[in-house]
Amino acid sequence: MTADMATFKKGMRQLAGGVTLITTSCEGVRCGLTATAVCSVSAAPPQLLVCVNKTASAHDPIGKSGIFAVNVLSTKHIALALRFSGQEGIDGDARFDEKSNWRTLTTGAPVLADALVNFDCKLINRVDVGTHTIYIGSIVDVAVSDGSPLIYADGLFVTPQAIAATG
Ligand SMILES: Cc1cc2nc3c(=O)[nH]c(=O)nc-3n(C[C@H](O)[C@H](O)[C@H](O)COP(=O)(O)O)c2cc1C
Repeated sequence: MTADMATFKKGMRQLAGGVTLITTSCEGVRCGLTATAVCSVSAAPPQLLVCVNKTASAHDPIGKSGIFAVNVLSTKHIALALRFSGQEGIDGDARFDEKSNWRTLTTGAPVLADALVNFDCKLINRVDVGTHTIYIGSIVDVAVSDGSPLIYADGLFVTPQAIAATG
């Protein structure tokens, strides 16, 4: 017996999460998705995990390329979060708009230069879990900037400032 899926989803909406873009480059083609299911796994060695829906266009390319980056978004990146969640009807490489500064670090996965953090990862393990795959990455490079993290809660993008103002 498992819990009702709709109630599970309703419950998960109340779990506020930092918003990221998971990006990869597979055979020269970039792709990515907006994701909150990102978690630290280990500090020594540095590892993290991401949960990616098997239906997402970036799911198979991440598995095939063996590299991915996690870009932690700031409050100025709401438009990018919408674009990479497929809500603007823009797919694949076209999501990497020319207004943003994209570069690479060590693995070759595309990273957003002005993201709060770029975790540049080599895929070291994967776990098949129903609708999603857990990809575990060894962090081979990391770049950190200052700024204010973008948060997603109860179906809305919120800022720490907004929470502080009402909390
Ligand atoms: C705030 C937010 C968080 C999301 N988090 C995840 C996530 O952790 N894992 C995931 O697989 N999809 C997540 N999604 C959905 C994907 O971004 C979206 O389904 C995907 O990009 C669409 O697939 P496509 O690339 O095939 O268009 C999230 C969407 C939003 C708006």
